[in-house]
Amino acid sequence: MAGNTTFTMIKPQAVADGNMGNIIAKIIDGGYTIKALKFTRLTKEQAMKFYAVHKDRPFYSHLVEFMTSGPIIAAILEKENAVEEYRKYIGSTDPANAEPGTIRALFATSMEKNAVHGSDSDENAIIEGNFFFSEFERF
Ligand code: CMP
Repeated sequence: MAGNTTFTMIKPQAVADGNMGNIIAKIIDGGYTIKALKFTRLTKEQAMKFYAVHKDRPFYSHLVEFMTSGPIIAAILEKENAVEEYRKYIGSTDPANAEPGTIRALFATSMEKNAVHGSDSDENAIIEGNFFFSEFERF
């Protein structure tokens, strides 16, 4: 059965572009409840660990560099069937293919600088949420 929790990050480019408020508003408008929220900056070690699944991909080192280039917002979101729904809501990884109105269509600038991250499975949503948040930071 599908879970009700997903994890998202607003990436450095979207924060630097001044779109964190717009993106949080869009998340809330989409019916997601914010269970945890943090404004922080990843260290190189943290970014390497978070994206370890991509470590053999040609874009890995550049992705780590980009994700540590400035602050990000991390959040745990709740909605029915959250992982699948949120991935539809943010649009394709490549914003050129993202449906109009999706978060990436609105705020991404490239495949790498694609505004937001969204968990790709219930299992990863739990792992990624635990990566950023303790029990005391969840509501
Ligand atoms: P995200 O959903 O955070 O998960 C992995 C990230 O790697 C992805 O968003 C993009 O930011 C980045 N990414 C995936 N594919 C490519 C690619 N072909 N070139 C550059 N960056 C990529």
